[in-house]
Amino acid sequence: MVILVTGGAGYIGSHTSIALLKAGYSVIIADNFCNSRPEMIKKIEQIAKKKVVFYEVDVTVEQAVYQIFSEHQIDGVIHFAGLKAVGESVEKPLEYYSNNIVSTLVLAKICRKFGVDKFVFSSSATVYGDNTVPFVETMDLLPTTNPYGETKAMSERILTDFARANPSFSVSLLRYFNPVGAHESGLIGEISNGIPKNLMPCITQVAKGRLESLRVFGNDFSTADGTGVRDYIHVMDLAEGHVSALEHLTQGVHIYNLGTGKGTSVLELIKAFEIANGISIPYEFVDRRLGDISECYADISKAQCELDWLAKRDIVTMCRDAWRFERNIDE
Ligand code: NAD
Ligand code: WQD
Repeated sequence: MVILVTGGAGYIGSHTSIALLKAGYSVIIADNFCNSRPEMIKKIEQIAKKKVVFYEVDVTVEQAVYQIFSEHQIDGVIHFAGLKAVGESVEKPLEYYSNNIVSTLVLAKICRKFGVDKFVFSSSATVYGDNTVPFVETMDLLPTTNPYGETKAMSERILTDFARANPSFSVSLLRYFNPVGAHESGLIGEISNGIPKNLMPCITQVAKGRLESLRVFGNDFSTADGTGVRDYIHVMDLAEGHVSALEHLTQGVHIYNLGTGKGTSVLELIKAFEIANGISIPYEFVDRRLGDISECYADISKAQCELDWLAKRDIVTMCRDAWRFERNIDE
């Protein structure tokens, strides 16, 4: 089977490409490197010991996507390509709506043209908004506080409507929780452009001595230790979840949470990092960050039951792998 992986040079796409190659799929990556680096392609090949076909294209450009489909017999698409910084999406809404929505529309349209009926989409737990935890796939989606979240909810809707109108179309909408960690080789991981915003990259920056201390956003949430609780998932578990999603894909629309089902607080993650790596992470409490919810974790029973998939790697492994990559990175 040949899978087109859009955004395959990015953080989750690169790890998923490796998991796909390992599972015996052929991989075509389409990426414009707006948030990744060209050397990622070689690293994927190095780790998987297999070649990938690569196109440097913007997947919002219909003609460019058409060309890929006309040059290869594609069996399925995993659509990762997108802009993902929540704060930036508030400042640049048009860029986010245009990139994230048009790419989905273009890919669905070209899939229809070429009769490609397997589609996996990168959605996000952010679509649950401030629902009550654990988040279940059947919950009504609540408005998010940012354009990024809206692009995920809208893309889900577009693909759902498309599948309803085209009964042979099979789509899996995967709602990721908080992906962290890196491939165990230490060769690939999450590269932050500029000052990181997410928790794990901030912790590794403190570990590197680039930040003096970690700012913990709020200690007055209604959680056991007062700090925000999230469902951190190792990026390789997430990658393997995509392979399971593809393997179990049947006609219609299927929504799955990809998380561990366990909530970890900010202070617990700091502690796990210290245990995993023997490095102390100084921190200070500061005000809550605008828009942060207190708790976010998944009900994972649907993915476990229907995809026969369960995240295996624990929080200490996530911290160890994140740091192995980060300390090796040459900038
Ligand atoms: P990433 O930025 O590392 O990867 C995205 C890749 O897509 C990058 O390589 C970028 O260059 C590419 N890209 C963006 N727009 C493109 C376009 N128009 N044409 C071609 N390539 C394009 O992000 P990631 O963390 O790997 O996230 C992958 C997907 O998962 C995104 O859709 C993101 O919204 C979603 N997601 C991420 C998280 C997370 O916390 N990382 C959580 C939930 C959902
Ligand atoms: C985690 C916890 C912070 C940084 C974001 C997106 C979401 C999804 C995943 C794409 C929170 C706290 C953080 C810091 C801190 N992405 N924190 N100090 O906000 O749960 O999710 O990434 O779809 O849509 O919103 O992740 O890593 O930013 O924060 O105390 O320096 O860490 O308050 O409780 P978040 P995060």
